[in-house]
Amino acid sequence: SDRPRPLVAGNWKMNGTRGSRGVVEAVRDGVDPALAARIDVLVCPPATLIGAFAEAVAGSAVRIGGQDVHPAASGAHTGCVSAEMLADCGASHVIVGHSERRADQHETDAEIRDKALAARRAGLIAIICVGETRAEREAGHTLSVVSSQLAGSLPDGAAAADTVIAYEPVWAIGTGLTPTPADVAEVHALIRRELVAKLGEEGRGVRILYGGSVKPGNAAELMAVENVDGALVGGASLKAEDFLGIAAAY
Ligand code: G3P
Repeated sequence: SDRPRPLVAGNWKMNGTRGSRGVVEAVRDGVDPALAARIDVLVCPPATLIGAFAEAVAGSAVRIGGQDVHPAASGAHTGCVSAEMLADCGASHVIVGHSERRADQHETDAEIRDKALAARRAGLIAIICVGETRAEREAGHTLSVVSSQLAGSLPDGAAAADTVIAYEPVWAIGTGLTPTPADVAEVHALIRRELVAKLGEEGRGVRILYGGSVKPGNAAELMAVENVDGALVGGASLKAEDFLGIAAAY
């Protein structure tokens, strides 16, 4: 089929220590050749663990990513990490614009676009996150919020090879709540239309992930939705068995 190749990504958020290496090793060992032939599998640990995890998965099908990046390549930015540094540690992807950073660090669409451009500059794939809050959904603003976040944070010239979109309704993150398949389909169809409007045919190949309370028990239903090209998994990615159970939905 001409559907994009699925990506199942784990976002560990601020969890994990060097002792967590066994989890990523179990993910590595659980991604058998048959699964690796069907999908891409990515683990995004905290920055402190990227180097060790990249070593742990070297030679396997599992990829490692960051959770944030500074737009500059280097310089006087205390506490920050550049895309070039992530790549140097063995990362291939980086999440940008997660709703927790949009809220906690007040990240704007323009900053997120600059981070995605930094990822491209360093040869990383940017996973650009969008999604409405509960209040925005209840007010009927879901589509306009997602559309405006996408317009502001997707760089010109984005390509399927360097960009992934993740739709994460804020109210579904860590709550056990998920939108209905019809609601997911509506938002993913909007994102697809806007990708094609901005990028032309290239936009059909850009993967659109769903994120927010994805578990082994609901993954198959969510992943079967049209224009859902994978998952961005939080809590359930911290246990190899759960994460692999989600990947097995493909
Ligand atoms: O980035 C993934 C995340 O926000 C979803 O978290 O715990 O609801 O799967 P969770």
